[in-house]
Amino acid sequence: MQLVTAKSNPSNNSRWGTVDADAYDAKWEEMQRNGHNPHGEVDFVCRFSPSFVLDAGCGSGRVAIELAARGIDVAGVDLDAAFIDAAQQKAPDLDFVVGDLSTIRLGRTFDVVVMAGNVMVFVAPGTEAEVVRNLATHLSPGGRLIAGFQLDRGLSIDGYKHAAATAGLELEEHWATWNGDSASASDSYGVLVHRAPPLSGL
Ligand SMILES: C[S@@+](CC[C@H](N)C(=O)[O-])C[C@H]1O[C@@H](n2cnc3c(N)ncnc32)[C@H](O)[C@@H]1O
Repeated sequence: MQLVTAKSNPSNNSRWGTVDADAYDAKWEEMQRNGHNPHGEVDFVCRFSPSFVLDAGCGSGRVAIELAARGIDVAGVDLDAAFIDAAQQKAPDLDFVVGDLSTIRLGRTFDVVVMAGNVMVFVAPGTEAEVVRNLATHLSPGGRLIAGFQLDRGLSIDGYKHAAATAGLELEEHWATWNGDSASASDSYGVLVHRAPPLSGL
């Protein structure tokens, strides 16, 4: 993996702050060296056999690059231009775009839109419902919106479910981890799968 030096520079009031892309990548590389699977989110997404995936809040491309390595057509969007630069340098052939998940219009739809690595708790406060609503417009009929996030950072499972229901999505799965551990009331993490309506008449 090519390492790049990049300091993040978010352009709005997202909660992401200033993070070093090399340091972020190093954390995942260490996880792999220590024998842990760094691709739990990708394994989870692949269960749905998608052809087209949007990595929403893709950071430095960790998830998107692994999805592409598994033969999936993937695009990545992130607000942080330095992280998008880092992703693009690692994978020049992939589509990485700087954009705000609450407003971006990509002009295409996806079988899966995934928000891995806590994206939902880093978006600007008060924009959570708008992010979910906007990402729902990027789903193909029957497509899935998949998000995993910590539950002690201001966004509750019920709050997220409400945003998804308001966006016209139906809850399909709720887990405690990307490994598929069962959800319970005492969880510190949630992974939710919501489904867009199928084409009417099919
Ligand atoms: C913890 S990182 C996760 C990165 C990547 N998904 C991963 O798992 O490695 C959270 C990311 O969300 C991005 N983010 C926060 N608010 C955003 C927004 N409104 N639009 C696009 N990206 C956003 C941040 O820039 C940051 O890269």
